[in-house]
Amino acid sequence: MSRETPLIAWPSHDGSRVPFDVFTRADVFAREQEAIFRGPVWNYVALEAELPQPGDFKTSFVGDTPIVVSRAEDGSLHAFVNRCAHRGATVQRQPSGNTRQHRCVYHQWCYNARGELTGVPYRRNVGGMGGYAVDFDVKDHGLTKLRVTSHKGVIFATFHPGTPDLEAYLDEPLLAAIDRLFSRPVRVLGHMRQRVRGNWKLYAENTRDPYHAALLHGFHATFGTYRTNQKRTGGSDRARAHTTGSTYGDDWRTAHQSGDVGQDKVVENYSLADPSLMEGRPDFNDGVTVQITSIFPCLVVQQIMNTLATRHIRPKAADDFELYWTYFGYVDDDEQMTAARLKQANLVGPAGLISMEDSEAIELIQRAIVRDGQENAFLEFGGLNADLDKDRQGEASVRAFWRYYARMMELSSTGVDA
Ligand code: FES
Ligand SMILES: [Fe+2]
Repeated sequence: MSRETPLIAWPSHDGSRVPFDVFTRADVFAREQEAIFRGPVWNYVALEAELPQPGDFKTSFVGDTPIVVSRAEDGSLHAFVNRCAHRGATVQRQPSGNTRQHRCVYHQWCYNARGELTGVPYRRNVGGMGGYAVDFDVKDHGLTKLRVTSHKGVIFATFHPGTPDLEAYLDEPLLAAIDRLFSRPVRVLGHMRQRVRGNWKLYAENTRDPYHAALLHGFHATFGTYRTNQKRTGGSDRARAHTTGSTYGDDWRTAHQSGDVGQDKVVENYSLADPSLMEGRPDFNDGVTVQITSIFPCLVVQQIMNTLATRHIRPKAADDFELYWTYFGYVDDDEQMTAARLKQANLVGPAGLISMEDSEAIELIQRAIVRDGQENAFLEFGGLNADLDKDRQGEASVRAFWRYYARMMELSSTGVDA
């Protein structure tokens, strides 16, 4: 596709009109894999806390490409495509573990923690059968490697040689948001996975749109955990469509009792049968109770009270993605704190009290847009001239996402100078 023939006909260039085609077309999805996920971006793949020891590995994804993230004997981190260099089979079939070699089950080619080929059965012919030519060199048949970087124990990978250093890619205030959450060594508490029958970008939009939270999520409105009139801050990276937003919590109980919730979804006289669900201790002394940081293209980092998690968006097809949640606490948490985190984990995830509606809303969109791809989503909330850094309630961050996305999609993967 040349630059003269855009893949998508955008009715406007300000991100305020998004043709439904971008959520449904297979050719758009394929282009995204090349221009975005294999373009000059850092893709979140895992946490270092998930692979602390030499030989530890975890399977993950960059876009729809399966990869393995691993730690070598010298402690270095590596990532490689999980596809055998022989005939293309999935090599590592376990979700995580520890191993000295990754062995393909089909014909037993073996790779080390760096993705280098180390063993090939019947390499010399056996009784005149098989074998490879004398110039066959294992060095020529390793797994495809990705560049890896880690910041505060959060691991990112990229296919693209031109991706800038992570610190330049993220910039402030995104780095500050990550630094805050990963200021102490973390301990992974568990994972949740959910499959959403919708396009991955609908989730990218969802996490950049704070104002749906008080409207869509009845739990917030009813129990006062997130209110439109709460104090909030945020910040965005204009160039790359990352965004972070924070909410300062008042006491949710007081807010609930006073009716100071600013919504119409309040169910009168409701109270939690088990208020301990909402009890924890502040993790930070800055008063922030909710912080959602969305990093282009596929990572969301969250603090919702004491629930800390990464959410990895793993696209599967134009109308299908997996959302992979990694919950964590801190190594120095006491038992009470860990118990509070695990209880509060009920707030989020596939059946989370304040997040199950997100995937439902996405599927409601996907179902309704199977035709009429040239019709548009309408994104003018907050006003088109809203200041991205000040408008923390409107759709400014969503429009920024679409502007950046459109640039990446219409330029070649080497042509985006963000
Ligand atoms: S496909 Fe992996 S060894 Fe043959
Ligand atoms: Fe939501």
